[in-house]
Amino acid sequence: MSYSITLLSLQGTAATISLIGAIIVILSVFFVMKSTGNPDPEEEKHVAKHQVYKFRDKYFVGLATIIVIMLGFTLQYMPYNVKKQVDKEVTVVAFQWGWKLSFDALQGDPKEFKGKNKIAVSHGETVKFHVTSQDATHNFGIYDAAGDIVAQTQAMPHYTNELVYQFDKPGEYKFICLEYCGQPHANMTGKIIVE
Ligand code: CUA
Repeated sequence: MSYSITLLSLQGTAATISLIGAIIVILSVFFVMKSTGNPDPEEEKHVAKHQVYKFRDKYFVGLATIIVIMLGFTLQYMPYNVKKQVDKEVTVVAFQWGWKLSFDALQGDPKEFKGKNKIAVSHGETVKFHVTSQDATHNFGIYDAAGDIVAQTQAMPHYTNELVYQFDKPGEYKFICLEYCGQPHANMTGKIIVE
């Protein structure tokens, strides 16, 4: 879906702007340090500090302006990736240490819920995941076949989070727990086969 592509490139743009900003700050600090040829080290420090602070104020205003403008452009797409029409609903129950996924709705105690750590959908389908936990807090993170994270939400006890994602590309998606939940946390993996 184009929203996810837009989001990724926006993240990339934001990261690039932050990186350029950080480089500018570092270079400016070096420049100020080099250019203040005051023989008195205390005085030199004072002058450098003052110049850095002055630059920092301008940098802050500049960055804040960019952020506000970008927010204006991007907020209209919120919430990302939500489509009215949902093709499939999947219940996801996390536990220490595994996952129970099923097309059945959750009724009653999540501990009694039956499901597998594998599910199959068709490509192009929009899936709404109802994500909860029967014990500790976990995190349901979906990765596409290329290994890029495409969606995630927390799996919390006594609460159900909804996560909507459209699987545009066929392939083997993976989901893993992204919240440390004990020593076998890394074993909390599963597959979404997109046919
Ligand atoms: Cu469940 Cu980490």
